[in-house]
Amino acid sequence: MSRLLLNTALAAMPFVLLAACHPGGKDKQALQARIDSLQEKVNAAYVPGTGEIMNNIIQPHHLKLWIAGSDENWVLADYELHLLSGGFKRIEKFHKGSPEAIALQMIYPEIDSVKEAINGQKKELFKKHFLLMTNTCNTCHHATNNPFVVIKVPDKEAFSNQQF
Ligand code: HEC
Repeated sequence: MSRLLLNTALAAMPFVLLAACHPGGKDKQALQARIDSLQEKVNAAYVPGTGEIMNNIIQPHHLKLWIAGSDENWVLADYELHLLSGGFKRIEKFHKGSPEAIALQMIYPEIDSVKEAINGQKKELFKKHFLLMTNTCNTCHHATNNPFVVIKVPDKEAFSNQQF
């Protein structure tokens, strides 16, 4: 390539780059349409509500955890506690920064204590910490203006279709 050609090519470079970075009207429209359609999808994405997570995840695992721990089925108890924690993690994920996500931090130390009792396979300690954790469920219901949702240590067997 001659020096003149090279210089011309180099001189043209900024214009070529500029054209590439600034798509023409048509490209811009297509891009905007794509962004709009993605935004629509994001807006329509399913986000489980806190009440839904409480009812569908936290409450059943709270109950199953109690049955498993009371029966000293520690492997199952550990599994149920893990899924119970998962419910709270989901509220944190889907409702980040909400008053609920902030208030629910109070439950984690209680969950940890239940976990310790499970790891140590100590039934009486399990029952004690399960009660403390359950009280904390209600403390949080008060803190979030849902004092009418009262959780208690289960007194009846449920899930008669599962072996504990
Ligand atoms: C943020 C603190 C917080 C903690 C901790 C918490 N909850 Fe909740 N819970 C809520 C809120 C807020 C609602 C109301 C949600 C709504 O109506 O959208 C609720 C509602 C509920 C409901 C009502 C669902 C229904 O349909 O009747 C149940 C059951 C429940 N919680 C169980 C529990 C259990 C069990 C625990 C403890 C293992 C617990 N919650 C711990 C905040 C909390």
